[in-house]
Amino acid sequence: MPNAAERPRRVTIGPDGPLLVEGPVEVVADDGTVHVSRRFTVAVCTCRRSRTYPWCDTSHRPRESRRGRPPSLTGGEERGAVS
Ligand code: FES
Repeated sequence: MPNAAERPRRVTIGPDGPLLVEGPVEVVADDGTVHVSRRFTVAVCTCRRSRTYPWCDTSHRPRESRRGRPPSLTGGEERGAVS
């Protein structure tokens, strides 16, 4: 029962990802458009890279190389690592 006086709506902040909001929700974008989702939990994009903005489409996640590692851990940084 989200948004009731006895139980506030919960918003969870991730370190690098979306805001997770208990639905249903209406999100007003900075251009004034209103987006509605009736899902149980909604992921609201905070990085603005989503193709379905204001909803998160996981574009915030780092891309992986063919070897399954993030691009920032390949090449020069990897060669300089001491293990
Ligand atoms: S936070 Fe996930 S795409 Fe922006």
